Amino acid sequence: MSNSLKFTIDGLKANVEGKEILKGVSLEIKGGEVHAVMGPNGTGKSTLASALMGHPKYEVTEGSVILNDEDVLDMAVDERARAGLFLAMQYPSEITGVTNADFLRSAINARRGEGNEISLIRFIRQMEAKMKDLEMNAEFMHRYLNEGFSGGEKKRNEILQMLLLEPKLCILDEIDSGLDIDALRIVAEGVNALRSEDRGFLIITHYQRLLNYIQPDFVHVMMQGRIVKSGGPELSQRLEAEGYDWIKEELGIEDETVGQEPEEFKVPMATTAPKYN
Ligand SMILES: Nc1ncnc2c1ncn2[C@@H]1O[C@H](COP(=O)(O)OP(=O)(O)O)[C@@H](O)[C@H]1O
Ligand SMILES: [Mg+2]
Repeated sequence: MSNSLKFTIDGLKANVEGKEILKGVSLEIKGGEVHAVMGPNGTGKSTLASALMGHPKYEVTEGSVILNDEDVLDMAVDERARAGLFLAMQYPSEITGVTNADFLRSAINARRGEGNEISLIRFIRQMEAKMKDLEMNAEFMHRYLNEGFSGGEKKRNEILQMLLLEPKLCILDEIDSGLDIDALRIVAEGVNALRSEDRGFLIITHYQRLLNYIQPDFVHVMMQGRIVKSGGPELSQRLEAEGYDWIKEELGIEDETVGQEPEEFKVPMATTAPKYN
């Protein structure tokens, strides 16, 4: 299949409660590509994920986000989901009174559209199969969404949603946090099973270890609300071995967190991800 996905973030700036957090992020993701966004805490990674998904708290002030030919910033959150955006959240919410099965079926049907709803039998079969892949107990189907789930169970549940929804652009925010090594492997296998030429991934992670299981094509480092460095998988390996300090030294960054940057950035704003044909 040809590369049918093109997701372009250009010069994205966003405020939270009046404070600018994203300071101009540019990134292009094509079908078949896995991009990892790495960086220390407090550098704007989750803000990027929230702004892309349309969280109401995050006000985009500049820049554009285009999915194929569609203007994502013009869409409401549900329209973004229908267009094929998906976010596996760092801190998934618990929703009492809505079972996991009801939630998933509604989500799938919202994505499929009216008149094209999935049959109950088919849904249950698919859900059971994916839960088996993720080594999730079938009882989770009937539990309230994320209520009382452990950290690792919540993360598996996010991946379950992703596997069933088959999004075009999958954003995973620290899906590895709170996972032991076995759960990490299972979750990574789930992600890898979805990798395809017409789908892209934006994988946000603090640590390299997830990237041992999900091999990225491109690695970007975020500091002070911008991407300050991009490269291939070797970049994440160097981060694993040496941490983030060498990048700060190389770029003359004293404090990498948002809000601590000087008025004039030492690193030019145009540190965008390399463009590929
Ligand atoms: N909902 C929010 N309310 C207030 N401040 C926020 C909110 N979300 C993010 N921030 C601030 O934005 C900065 C970057 O946070 P975040 O994007 O979560 O970083 P990361 O995911 O890289 O750790 C932090 O200073 C954080 O306090
Ligand atoms: Mg975060």
